[in-house]
Amino acid sequence: MEQSKAMVDRCVSLGLDPNRIPKHVAIIMDGNGRWAKDRGESRVFGHMHGVDSVRSAIEGAMELGVRYLTLYAFSTENWNRPKEEVDALMNLLVDTLLREVKELSDKGVRLRTIGDVASLPSSCQEQLALAEKSTENETNLDLILALSYSSKWEMVEAIRKMIASGIRSEEINPEVISENLSTHGIPDPELMIRTSGEHRISNFLLWQMAYTEFHFTSVLWPDFRKENFYEAMHDFQHRERRFGGLADTNHNVQIQ
Ligand code: FPP
Repeated sequence: MEQSKAMVDRCVSLGLDPNRIPKHVAIIMDGNGRWAKDRGESRVFGHMHGVDSVRSAIEGAMELGVRYLTLYAFSTENWNRPKEEVDALMNLLVDTLLREVKELSDKGVRLRTIGDVASLPSSCQEQLALAEKSTENETNLDLILALSYSSKWEMVEAIRKMIASGIRSEEINPEVISENLSTHGIPDPELMIRTSGEHRISNFLLWQMAYTEFHFTSVLWPDFRKENFYEAMHDFQHRERRFGGLADTNHNVQIQ
């Protein structure tokens, strides 16, 4: 979708260049456990409050005209957490989907997933399939949940798919590899935000983030609000994106 007049006006009112809003923003939502611990609560309490921040990130993205938002909701490595926490996260996902899918659809949000969704509990898989089906024609924002996802898992899957297709080694190139990843058809993120002061990419979109700008904030995920999203956008717009080439003296880099 093109940016609407309201989106352009909102960008301008925030001092942002409406022509340099990234099409795709990816977020590593981190710090739920520490946020809860600071309050003497269980980690699950932090995850529950993290849902409000998911809402804020979606709203912030939609206000400015971001077209794809990918959230790292559950990594392959997260399966190693205590069973109670994993179960609570899965229930939270199902409950949130049940509660919010109608509103997502009304707002024009298409829900998609990347990751080893088949490894999730069947109740999760069912809710996800329903939510994906009922929002499949929405075009304002693609909300992509990375679930049981890791880049290394995704790359192994891609290689298996390519081998199974009988591809010859000389036919393999970066485009073919991209087509075999779960993000096939989705533009690479131009901006990645990680909360909680950690400076890692933790097995997230490694192939897709070859030229992504990173914004790290010390804000813990349950405290993340639209203002933090705008701040990341300001940071992004002050970067000079060179893609390994020469600086563009007009600072008018075409966003890929
Ligand atoms: C990382 O914080 C967060 C997660 C592993 C889960 C993210 C899940 C949510 C925000 C809630 C549900 C999401 C949706 C899409 C409905 P952490 O537990 O690693 O925090 P810590 O580093 O402080 O321990």
